[in-house]
Amino acid sequence: MSVITLKGIGSYAPPKILNNQDFEKIIDTSDEWIVTRSGIHFRHVALPDQATSDLAFEASKVALEQAQLDPKDLDLIIVGTSSPDMFFPSTACLLAEKLSAPNPMAFDVQAGCSGFLYALSTAEQFLRNGTYRNALVLGADTITRFTDYTDRSTCFLFGDGAGAFVLEKQEKGEEFILDFLNGTDPTGTGKLLMPAGGSKRPACTESIQAHEHFLKMNGKEIFKFAVRISEVLINELLKRNHLKSSDIAWYAFHQANIRIIEAASERLNITVDQTILTIDHFGNTSSATVPMSMHEYAKQGKLKKGDLVIMVVFGAGLTYSAALVRWPL
Ligand SMILES: CC(C)(COP(=O)(O)OP(=O)(O)OC[C@H]1O[C@@H](n2cnc3c(N)ncnc32)[C@H](O)[C@@H]1OP(=O)(O)O)[C@@H](O)C(=O)NCCC(=O)NCCS
Repeated sequence: MSVITLKGIGSYAPPKILNNQDFEKIIDTSDEWIVTRSGIHFRHVALPDQATSDLAFEASKVALEQAQLDPKDLDLIIVGTSSPDMFFPSTACLLAEKLSAPNPMAFDVQAGCSGFLYALSTAEQFLRNGTYRNALVLGADTITRFTDYTDRSTCFLFGDGAGAFVLEKQEKGEEFILDFLNGTDPTGTGKLLMPAGGSKRPACTESIQAHEHFLKMNGKEIFKFAVRISEVLINELLKRNHLKSSDIAWYAFHQANIRIIEAASERLNITVDQTILTIDHFGNTSSATVPMSMHEYAKQGKLKKGDLVIMVVFGAGLTYSAALVRWPL
């Protein structure tokens, strides 16, 4: 029976850095407040000429090289993103152009910060049912382009980046993806959104003056949702796979706020040492937090072949997703 495996992983963080002292100059805040309330020390932001497909391209090159896969052999490219280069064509199509991938099925998945795991579970279906063999799956966001630097309750949270996985269907071997849980709580659509720029409120002078082309968030509500849903998803994955929390080598949480990770860990009776942490230097890179973090821990040798990992994310929608995987690299 065929299996789906991970052949390569890559990530990219743009070179420009915004540290907390930079925010002290533009909003009423302090380094101490930001670190204490979020765990973020600095974050990478895209250069003026870098769009989401550019970050995705850099991450893809690293992942494809590890996978030793020529882009011409890609059947499928899915980019999880909330900050596409433009409405259309999709970022996945623009990425295919940059990679010179001649004829993949290419499309974006828009699921807020859950975009990467939504994309991964979508790709899995195409590989599992035999339609395709080689897939490139990304979480990539340039969310700082939609960040309101006059809104002190949100602007310090975000950074830009991309993470990429190359998946391959093989005739034999060990499964990479063991289980998935995806969902949406649509009662929360108004809690995290960008109100203008779409068909409901196309760009106009008033929408620009009212800062409606920027992310708006009810931070407290999202915080509570994030802690609750992370606990529910992880407990469900453990239960239905007959696992104990100590069987999991790493919990890869969406990097939105270190206090969310700490609060969820406490409820789950796991220690923060069991969680992958990159928020201090990346901030919240939206769809990219989990694949970027996984790549960093893999490069550092902390993620080992055979490790069981649970990835868990949440975002605008309010979407949520969790995956149980066995690390194959
Ligand atoms: C945004 C967030 C960090 C705010 O932290 P918080 O502990 O909830 O802070 P509060 O909003 O209660 O604000 C506490 C106080 O700090 C103030 N404050 C807000 N932003 C501030 C800033 N940047 N610097 C200094 N003070 C700030 C508030 O005005 C408030 O003051 P008050 O008590 O006098 O009214 C937190 O709610 C959060 O991380 N939420 C989840 C965000 C998230 O996950 N988003 C992405 C989802 S994909």
